[in-house]
Parts: sequence; structure tokens; C-alpha cells
Amino acid sequence: MPNTITPADLLASLSWRYATKKFDPSKKIDAALWSTLEQALVLSPSSYGLQAWRFVVVTDTATRQKLRAVSWNQPQITDASHMVVFCRKNELTAADVDVYVDRIAQVRGASKADLEGYRNMMVGSVTNPPSLPGGDMVTYTRSQVYIALGQFLTAAALLGVDACPMEGFDPKGYNEILNLPAQGYSAVVVATAGYRAADDMFGTMKKVRFEAKDVIKHV
Ligand SMILES: Cc1cc2nc3c(=O)[nH]c(=O)nc-3n(C[C@H](O)[C@H](O)[C@H](O)COP(=O)(O)O)c2cc1C
Repeated sequence: MPNTITPADLLASLSWRYATKKFDPSKKIDAALWSTLEQALVLSPSSYGLQAWRFVVVTDTATRQKLRAVSWNQPQITDASHMVVFCRKNELTAADVDVYVDRIAQVRGASKADLEGYRNMMVGSVTNPPSLPGGDMVTYTRSQVYIALGQFLTAAALLGVDACPMEGFDPKGYNEILNLPAQGYSAVVVATAGYRAADDMFGTMKKVRFEAKDVIKHV
């Protein structure tokens, strides 16, 4: 088992994090730390392990400007050190399942024959979207992407990196600017990451959450 952090440290990090409204544009996440955050994305769990997503890290300044224009002009889009667009794969087919099964065989040294049952079960699901959790392909793949978003936000907090989850943008505009449809993907949600500006007033506001007794039920 890897080292654990204390429960108090976990809660301290989760309380420290907040949806950063104003980043300090002069502070950049160093390359090794960013690479760790990318690995946290890669390590996100997904339904069947299918990983029907793509994480587009936008570094080009001109592209970030264009994206800001279709993001309610929110300053995080250009001022944060880094930005990830979480994209869902538009369709999952038997061919996608086969790519995944090949990967399992490669990584685990398993034979494809051993994986046949698992393969057929996944193909049965993805080729019959009403059977998917959520009842359709879009709901199913969108949901997966949010798991990665949550993992990213928590990983960032634990590493002392500020972040803002963002849905305040026009997905069609993002799809166009990033040429996503041609690649079979659609923008779902964004995370900006970097370091809070000293004068971001949201950084010192009290966290507003309902009490545990009102949102957690023990049965
Ligand atoms: C999916 C999602 C989308 C959000 N979109 C935006 C956004 O576009 N702009 C923004 O400033 N904050 C955005 N937020 C931040 C929320 O307003 C914030 O997380 C919430 O008020 C709780 O505050 P806290 O994260 O600071 O604890 C978003 C949060 C989530 C989870």
C-alpha cells in the first residue's frame, strides 16, 4: 500500500480548494507537477474501463483567447496556467471495445480468447445504448468525463494547485475551435488550473455546504 495522508490533511486540502475565479497569470505550474496531474487524468476510473474520453490541454495563447470569447469571457480561461477540456467520445462501437481489449491483453499479458466473454458483454452494452446506465450514449459518456473532472480537482488540491471546474461555455464553440467533431469527440466540461491571485475575494470566503446530516443518509 502506498503512503496515506492523514484524514485531517485530506479534509484540510479539500477545504482549501475552491473554484478559483481569479488566477495569478504570472504563476505557472511546473512541468513535472503538470505531468503528474495529467497522469491523474489517465488514472481516472471509467465504466468497464473503456475510457471513452479525451483530455485536451490547451496551451496555445491565441486558442485560449478564442475559447474565452465563447466562455462568457471568464478570465480563468486565459489567466490560468493550464486548461483542460474534458471531452466525451461521441460513439462507442465494437471496434472501440476491441481496441480496449487489445490493450488489456497487451498490459496484462492475457489472451484474447480469455477476454472474449468480457468483450462480448461490453459490445452488447455499447451497441444497445438504451441498456447503458443513463439510457443513452450521450448521458453515459458525459457521466464518465465528470469522474475524471472530480479526480483532477482532488489531485490538484492535494498537490497545492488551484483549479476551477467550468461549464460556463458554449460547447459548440469549443467543438469548432478545437476541431473536435472531426475527431469524434465533444467538449463537456473544462478545468482551469494554476495559482490563485492574492486578491481573489473568493479565496477567503467561507465554504457553503449543507450539513452532512442533510445530504448523507444512513439506512
Ligand atoms: C460542473 C461545474 C461547473 C462549474 N462552472 C463554473 C464556471 O463556469 N465558472 C465558475 O467560475 N465556476 C464554476 N463552477 C464552480 C462552482 O460554482 C463552485 O464549485 C461551487 O459554487 C462550490 O464552490 P467551491 O468549489 O468554491 O467550494 C462550476 C462547478 C462545477 C462542479
